[in-house]
Amino acid sequence: SSQDVTMITCTAPVNIAVIKYWGKRHEELILPINSSLSVTLHQDQLKTTTTVACSRHFQEDRIWLNGKEEDINQPRIQSCLREIRRLARKRRSDEDLSNDISLAHRVHICSVNNFPTAAGLASSAAGYACLVYSLSRLFGVDGELSLVARQGSGSACRSMYGGFVQWKMGERQDGKDSLAEQVEPESHWPELRVLVLVVSAERKLVGSTSGMQTSVKTSKLLKHRADCVVPGRMEEMISAIQRRDFAAFGELTMKDSNQFHATCLDTYPPIFYLNDISQKVISLVHRYNQHYQDTRVTYTFDAGPNAVIYTLEDHVPEFIQVVRYFFPPETNGGEFVKGLPVGPASLS
Ligand code: PMV
Repeated sequence: SSQDVTMITCTAPVNIAVIKYWGKRHEELILPINSSLSVTLHQDQLKTTTTVACSRHFQEDRIWLNGKEEDINQPRIQSCLREIRRLARKRRSDEDLSNDISLAHRVHICSVNNFPTAAGLASSAAGYACLVYSLSRLFGVDGELSLVARQGSGSACRSMYGGFVQWKMGERQDGKDSLAEQVEPESHWPELRVLVLVVSAERKLVGSTSGMQTSVKTSKLLKHRADCVVPGRMEEMISAIQRRDFAAFGELTMKDSNQFHATCLDTYPPIFYLNDISQKVISLVHRYNQHYQDTRVTYTFDAGPNAVIYTLEDHVPEFIQVVRYFFPPETNGGEFVKGLPVGPASLS
C-alpha cells in the first residue's frame, strides 16, 4: 500500500558555463583537464524535477526520464546510486541508526525536464544534480554532494550551488578535490540577466562524452587551452564577477565560447555545434556592442546551436526587440526568446 512508500521530490536548475569544461583526464571518475565556471539559472524556467521513491516492495531500481523508462544500468546512474548508498552506509555506521529508509530498499526514480533534453541546454547538468540531491534527501546523507553529481555528469557538480560557481579541476588521482565551489551567491549581481535563444530543439549530433574523447585525443589546441589559457582566464573571470565588471565578464565569456568551438573544429574529425543562425547571433551581438562602443551583451554556446545571452537588466527590452527584428518568430517557426532572470537557485 502507499504507506510503505517513502517519496521525495526535488528540483534542480540548469547552469551555463562562461568558462567551458571540455575534456576529461579520467573517464570513470569524470575528472576534467581544466577548471570551469558557470552561472546557475533561476529555477522557474529551466529545471529538472525528480521524484525518488523507495519501498521494501520494490523489486529493483528503476528510472523514468520524461515519462519513458530508461536503462537503470547506465554506468553514470549506477555511479550516483553507488556513491549515495556508500555515504548512507557510512553515516549509519558513524552515528544515526534511526533513519528508517533501509539501504536494502530499491528506488524508483522519475525525472522530467521542462526544456528540450540533449539539445545543448545543459539537461544532464540539472538532471544529475537533481538525481543526486533527491537521493541524498531520501537516504538522509549530506557531505560534499558535488563530488557525487560530478560522477553523473561533469557539469552537474556546478548545479549543486546557486549563483556563480567554479568547478576546480583538482590534482588528486582519486578526484576528492575535483569539486564545485560557490564564487559568489546570486544576490551578488542582481542586475544580471540570461536570455536563451532556442535556435533548434533537436538532439545534438555529437554528445559531449564522445566529443570530448575525440577532442582530447586529436586536438593540440585543446591541450594548449587547458594548460595555458584557462588557468589565467579563471582568475580573470572570478575577478570580473567580484568587481561586477560586465564588460570584462562579457568579453571573457565570448572569447571562451569561441575558443571552445575552435577546439571542436580542431578536433579530427571536426565537430560542428554552431549553425548559420548561431553565427548570425554572434555577429548581431558584436554589431550591437560596437554600436554602443561597449560590451553590453554577451553570447555563449555549449554543445549545440542554441545561444545563451548574458546581459544587464537595463538592456534586456531593447536587445530582445533587436533579436525579434532580425529573427522574426515565423522564420524559424518556434519560440525564440526566453527571458530568464538569474536568481535564487538552490535545490529545493
Ligand atoms: O557535463 P557534460 O558532459 O554534459 O559536458 C558539458 C560540456 C559543456 O556544456 C559544453 C561545457 C560546460 O562547461 O558546461
